[in-house]
Amino acid sequence: MAPGLREHLVAYFEEHHRLVEAGALQLLLTNHQPLLVSRELVEAPGDGSPFVTVEMVERVLALRTPRPPEPAGLRDAARSPDVRVERPFAVLQEGFVGPPVGSDALAAYSSLFRSRYRALARLLRGRPELGNLRPTSALRPGDGPASVIGLVREVRTTAKRHHVVLTIDDDAGSVEVLVPQDSPAAQQTFLPDEVVGLKLQFAREPGKLPRALAVERPDVPATRAVGRASRRRRAIFLSDLHVGSRSFLADSWGHLVDFLRGQGPQSEVADEIDHVVVAGDLVDGIGVYPNQEHDLAIADVVEQYAELGRRLAELPSRLSIVVVPGNHDAVCPAEPQPALPPALRASLPENVHSLANPSTFSLHGVVVEAYHGRSFDDLIPALPGTAYARPTEVMKRMIQMRHLAPIYGDRTPLAPLPRDGLVIDPAPDILVTGHVHTYGADRYRGVLLLNVSTWQAETEYQRMRNIAPVPARAAVVDLSNLDLVSLDFSGGDPVRVGAAG
Ligand SMILES: [Fe+2]
Ligand SMILES: [Fe+2]
Repeated sequence: MAPGLREHLVAYFEEHHRLVEAGALQLLLTNHQPLLVSRELVEAPGDGSPFVTVEMVERVLALRTPRPPEPAGLRDAARSPDVRVERPFAVLQEGFVGPPVGSDALAAYSSLFRSRYRALARLLRGRPELGNLRPTSALRPGDGPASVIGLVREVRTTAKRHHVVLTIDDDAGSVEVLVPQDSPAAQQTFLPDEVVGLKLQFAREPGKLPRALAVERPDVPATRAVGRASRRRRAIFLSDLHVGSRSFLADSWGHLVDFLRGQGPQSEVADEIDHVVVAGDLVDGIGVYPNQEHDLAIADVVEQYAELGRRLAELPSRLSIVVVPGNHDAVCPAEPQPALPPALRASLPENVHSLANPSTFSLHGVVVEAYHGRSFDDLIPALPGTAYARPTEVMKRMIQMRHLAPIYGDRTPLAPLPRDGLVIDPAPDILVTGHVHTYGADRYRGVLLLNVSTWQAETEYQRMRNIAPVPARAAVVDLSNLDLVSLDFSGGDPVRVGAAG
């Protein structure tokens, strides 16, 4: 039996060191956001029980704001004794959980980082690599090796020997740690605001900093249950349409429309597609960068969404289309971003599911996380050896950190929400991003990584910033085995291309 949502839930609780009882699992599967409820369950202060019971699920559900019930068909399917549930489409969780509460920005940011620390520390706790795990306040130099889990507050390099000194924070306090320049732990760059586990060795001499012997990142398990659809259905992944831009590639878009309508070659692939995912920058927006008005074909943002609606209506109406916003869209730019407001959503066809950025959803039991990718602008300069032309290298690091945009205070604005919606939890089967306008596909520990091009030609602004786009490409994924077909629509009929270029 191919693993579906049910297996994902079991794997999720396993990763969080919990065993879920059969009845509790059934109850979760009837909920419209089962993974969000599961996350609340592992976060709920409890008695330390290793089990998840029906009562615990009921308690968490009772605290949630009631939502309209699902259509009877879905509910019955979820309750059916044939326990594997494979809905064509289900939203599992949206990164945006409502506006910040209260007006104290400092307090709001500190609860955001506490939420991040707790979510990621939970994934690291209990690992054999982190023996003798202590809160920072309980580290005693004489005690021999110990481990800590902390949020990296500061990374600095010593002037003489180029050792790295980290300041890391946990709930109890903070500690400074030396990472010797020639040690294995120093081989990877530490990023500010990521959460890491460190194995420490204390020096005999008083006053010397403990040394990091090894670093452990949250990462995804090397082996995990991955979602597969039980029959061959495909999804096509696109990004960065930039409708309203003068550089919108209307001809290439026309080729995509023909392809999805089953006209021309590759129609055997097109016939099996029933989902379209668009990873943000749906329209070009207004005032996103200096002098953008010169690059716009449609100067009014409401009109841009009306045109987006017309473009999406060109696709066959049998397709279900999932869209998330990007930094060019008309929503608050701070991440996580909410879904499009109702007034703009109203211009889009009915077969469009408009979600927050990021969002996690399942397509025939395959868990997909879609994130626009603004944080590439911070991560590429921060991570040596990465480049806009190879976005999947950065995405591997996102998975290792289990975080989409850790760095605070740089180019990616972070919203001070009470829960960090940019933590990657649950681990997805497919992570899809855009923003960099190039194309890349790779696999990392069973996760398919996709960065899916653009439908905008090079703009003056990009020429200025030396960004060479790879436009008009799309990734078509067979959801029964995660096999990938990369298609190039730039020259007319789609041509199959290699994933990387
Ligand atoms: Fe874009
Ligand atoms: Fe973007």
